[in-house]
Amino acid sequence: MTINQKLVDLLRWYQDLGISVAVGGGPANHYAPLRTLVPKASFTKREEPPIKRPLAAAALTPSPPVLPSRLDLSQCETLGALRRALEDFEGCALKKTATNLVFADGNPKARVMLVGEAPGADEDRQGFPFVGVSGQLLDRMLATIGLDRTSVYITNIIPWRPPGNRQPTPQEIAACKPFVERHIELIHPEILVLVGGIAMKTLFNTNDGIMRLRGTWKSYASPGLKSPIKAIATYHPSFLLRSPGQKAQSWQDLLMIKRALGAG
Ligand code: URA
Repeated sequence: MTINQKLVDLLRWYQDLGISVAVGGGPANHYAPLRTLVPKASFTKREEPPIKRPLAAAALTPSPPVLPSRLDLSQCETLGALRRALEDFEGCALKKTATNLVFADGNPKARVMLVGEAPGADEDRQGFPFVGVSGQLLDRMLATIGLDRTSVYITNIIPWRPPGNRQPTPQEIAACKPFVERHIELIHPEILVLVGGIAMKTLFNTNDGIMRLRGTWKSYASPGLKSPIKAIATYHPSFLLRSPGQKAQSWQDLLMIKRALGAG
């Protein structure tokens, strides 16, 4: 096996583990003896040396839990203020590995607001939600009922990309949930579309699966909302890309949204 082939295999192995981001701020000499990487003088006799985890592995470690009830975002009265609060928020380690904050896209005055799960690689690069392959499918789905990004507003439960597109952990979801709740309060759409199981479970505090929950109207409420919002869950486009047989059910959900907009 050539050295190039070995390197390619190693990179594939990293990719399979979900390590797809370079985390270090500068170049690291991984061939240097450990002694030169950890200065001796930093330990006293009784202290255990800190365990040094590789940076990429640290990126995959779940963030520390944050108590969302302590986070009062009611003072964020504009989308700009909410965005700045997220930029300043240090309670979710995903921020450290992400390239960009993915805040939102679309029209803040839209009647329809969509909430997805978390950004992927394309969204992380561009700083906007649903701009990759699944976003293209979402755009086509919306177009079938006459909607586009001038007539919807889109955000995610998690505003930073989980490394390697892994699922966000319950701690990361709990840390970010107050922000998406405030986001919905500020937009106060007529119709809230929960795109995929994570969005549905997070905002309705349920463990039921998306297959059971999709396709029926629900009422979404939160303390900062003057009135409840009509909400519906539907399949995530990345699920539909893997299971195109479920598109017929998605179509039913889209028709329900279209009818509700017609009636509104
Ligand atoms: N999947 C999501 O849930 N959100 C995005 O922004 C992109 C992919």
